[in-house]
Amino acid sequence: MDNYFSELGRAVYDKWKAKDFSLIEFPMIAQQALEKKPPARHVDLDQLLHNFLLDDNQPFQTTSGFGQPELIVYDSPKFYIQILFWLDGTTDIHQHGFSGAFHVLAGSSIHSRFDFTNVTPITPHFRIGDVILQETHLLDTGRTVPIHSGPGFIHSLFHLETPSVTVVIRTHSDPGTDPQFTYLPPHVALDPAKHDSLTTRRKQLLDVLEQTGDENYAPLVIKMLNGLDFERGFFILQNCIATLRHLGVWEKAWGRFSRKHGKLALAVAPTLNEIIRRDGIAALRASFEDVEHRFFLALLLNVGSRAEILRLISSRMDEDPLRAIARWAGEIIRATESGIWMLDAFFPFKAGENDDLEQEQEFLLEALHHFITGEKPSPKLRKLSKVNLELLKETLKHSSWRNLLLPDKSATSRNRSGKLHA
Ligand SMILES: [Fe+2]
Repeated sequence: MDNYFSELGRAVYDKWKAKDFSLIEFPMIAQQALEKKPPARHVDLDQLLHNFLLDDNQPFQTTSGFGQPELIVYDSPKFYIQILFWLDGTTDIHQHGFSGAFHVLAGSSIHSRFDFTNVTPITPHFRIGDVILQETHLLDTGRTVPIHSGPGFIHSLFHLETPSVTVVIRTHSDPGTDPQFTYLPPHVALDPAKHDSLTTRRKQLLDVLEQTGDENYAPLVIKMLNGLDFERGFFILQNCIATLRHLGVWEKAWGRFSRKHGKLALAVAPTLNEIIRRDGIAALRASFEDVEHRFFLALLLNVGSRAEILRLISSRMDEDPLRAIARWAGEIIRATESGIWMLDAFFPFKAGENDDLEQEQEFLLEALHHFITGEKPSPKLRKLSKVNLELLKETLKHSSWRNLLLPDKSATSRNRSGKLHA
C-alpha cells in the first residue's frame, strides 16, 4: 500500500465527511486535495511500481479494461483512487457516471471539452444531436481537472507521451447519471455499455461473409437495412461502410437507409465519415513515436479551426507554427508502391509518375505549403495546370488537413456578397 495515496485518500475522506458526503462538493474536494500536494511532485512512480509488483498488501483491484492498465491505489466504500497508464490510447469523447478529479502525473495530453445540443432521444441508449467542440487545451504534467458526472462534462484526451499517467480520485458511481454516453461527432451519442447481442452476432457473421468473399454480402446488408430500425441500421452501416464502399455499393445501401429513415438519416452520413477519419488518425497515433507528431495529430483530430490550431502550436513551440507544420509534413510524408500518403490524404501515382519519388514528395509538400500559407506557388508548381492544382487541393480538403487550408478567395467573396445563397 502506497503511503502517499493512503494519506491522500484519508484526507479526501475526512474533508468529504465534513460536507456530509455531498456529491456536489466532491469534485472540488478531490481537485483541492490533488492541487495541495500534487502527485506529479510527491509520487515516485518507479518506487510505486516496484511496491505494487512486490508487496501483496494492495487495495482491491478491479477487472476494468480502462487504462493500459488501471491500478487501484486507495479504495473505500465511498470513492477510490486509480492510476491510469496510457501507451497509445486516445479516449473516445465521453461523459461520466462518476465524479471527482484527475491529475496528470506523467506526460501531457490534449484535452478537449464538448457540448451536446439539440438532442433527439431515439432509444434510452442512442441519441441524435449536435456534438459541439467548446475548447481544446494542453494539459501539462501537474495539471488537475475536476470531473462532474452527467452530460455537463463531456471530454476527450489525446495522450502525447508514452506512457502518459493520470491519477483519478473518483466516486464509484453517481445515481441517475447513467448511461455514460460516448459521442460520435458531429451528431450521435450512444451507450457503449449497452450490448445488443443479436446485432453483435450479426455484425460478426457479416464479417465472416466479407472475409470469405461471399457474393451475398452486399445484397444481405441491403436487405437488412430495409428491415432494421434506425439504431440497429446505424450499427450495421458503421460496421459495413468500408466494405460497401470497396464493393462499389455504398450509394445503393445508403439510399435504402436514407429513404427509410428520412430526416433522421441526415445525421448519420457525416457521423460515419467522421468515424472513419478519427479512427484513421487514432491508428496513426500508435505508429507515431515523436511527441511533436502526436501533438500535431491531436490538433488535427480535435481542433476545428485553423486559427486555433496555430494558436495551440504557438503555445507549445518556439517555432513559427506554419514552419513547424511544413517541417512535420516533411517528416511524416510516406511513399508506397501505389502513391504518397500525407496522413490520411492519399495521392495515387499515375503511370510513370513514381520514377522520382523524392521529387514527387517535394512537389506535394510545396503544394501543401502554398495552400496553407497563401504564399506564391513555386516555379515548379506554376508549371502545373490549374486543374491539377485544384485536384491536389480537393484531396486535401477531404482529409484531416482541411482545417488548415486557407479558404478559396472566390468562395469567400461570393459568400460575402450573399448572392450565391440568395
Ligand atoms: Fe473522462
